[in-house]
Amino acid sequence: APMRQNSVPNGNSPLKLFTQAKTTITDIFKHISTYVNDSNIFLADVTKSDKKLLTVDKHDDLQQLKEKVTRILTIISRDHMKVVFFGRTSNGKSTVMNAMLRERILPAGMGHTTNCFLQIEGTDKLDAYVLVPPSDEPKSIVSLKDLGSALSREKLNSDSLVKILYPKEKCRLLRDDVILVDSPGIDVSANLDQWIEDHCLDADVFVLVVSAEATITVAEKKFLHNVAQRLSNPNIFILMNRWDAIVNEEENVDKVRQQHLERGMEFLCDELHLYDRKVVADYRVFFVSAREAVLHRAPDPSSSPRTGFAEGYKERLTEFTKFEQEFEKCISKAAVRTKFEQHTNRGKEIINLLRDTMVNITDKSHSLKQQTVQKRTEESEKHDFIEKELKSMMETTKDRIRHVSEDVYKRVAQ
Ligand code: GTP
Ligand code: MG
Repeated sequence: APMRQNSVPNGNSPLKLFTQAKTTITDIFKHISTYVNDSNIFLADVTKSDKKLLTVDKHDDLQQLKEKVTRILTIISRDHMKVVFFGRTSNGKSTVMNAMLRERILPAGMGHTTNCFLQIEGTDKLDAYVLVPPSDEPKSIVSLKDLGSALSREKLNSDSLVKILYPKEKCRLLRDDVILVDSPGIDVSANLDQWIEDHCLDADVFVLVVSAEATITVAEKKFLHNVAQRLSNPNIFILMNRWDAIVNEEENVDKVRQQHLERGMEFLCDELHLYDRKVVADYRVFFVSAREAVLHRAPDPSSSPRTGFAEGYKERLTEFTKFEQEFEKCISKAAVRTKFEQHTNRGKEIINLLRDTMVNITDKSHSLKQQTVQKRTEESEKHDFIEKELKSMMETTKDRIRHVSEDVYKRVAQ
């Protein structure tokens, strides 16, 4: 099929890079799958022909390709972008997530609220449901409050993972294949290594939610140090949350902001060596109020529209949106790299294996032909046909893969 123009259309969200790349790579693997099937039919004939053009072992290997391709297609269909939120208890992790989801999905409140890992992902179903381990029986969420209390009734280990499946239709982030993971306060119950092992190794982005009234704590730093040991170059954002509280400190705003920024830079640049200072200042540390962002986006119908906003809230809302933009760029770029590079390489391997086999068969049948000086058999005609198909297939696939990755990188690399 001819290459569609603009395979990555101008969606508003940088997340589209990922979803479009996923669609394209799925098409490519479906194409490869058809080709593998055709080749298998041909190869079955070749083995039957008794001319020893193909060894039994090789034929077995090739027959397994079909299953391999099917498996890769399943993996691709489950590929997603994953972000983990963490930080000290009550810093506003759950509130930040609700703001990003534009719905009050997660229980948030004073004191220690989130008591285990909560993963939010999209479902095509119309109603939300919850999966609580060890049962795989879906439980319904009648209301969000019920979710909170249901969780507190279950005596769950802080390491365990409750999945909330929320209708994609209602939420853009979930529709675009983002999975968000909320964690218990890092100071309350931190078996850090277990957390990382169980929930963080496949994360594309980490968001540290800090209270701007306090500062980054030792526990939070330790967590990120451990993450950086396990994952090379993790993507980290720091949200200086509760920045609305600064209205009480009017005369010190700039100083406090500078102090937070300095500490963020010290940590991400000097300790973890992840970014340079300018990048941290411009793209990695944000001063926000998750509370105001939630109010603005998913207003509480029982309160008047004006309550809950502190002076200067517009600037903080803008900063929150700026964070989201950077976050979306970062997560889609990271996920495309880590997930699709692998698939692309597997696809190339499969195609190369088939091509080598075909070339081998051609060579052998040519020399056989020369020995016997026979007319072209029906078999080799069929083979020529498949070889031609394969060649054009190789070219299209390479082109498409190159086109998609170039397009994706162009769009995300700014
Ligand atoms: P745990 O789940 O206990 O670890 O806490 P958490 O980090 O998820 O905090 P949560 O989102 O539950 O917020 C704790 C309290 O802080 C809630 O009452 C929020 O309304 C409030 N809060 C969250 N963000 C802000 C903010 O930006 N400004 C202000 N003033 N309050 C906030
Ligand atoms: Mg919470």
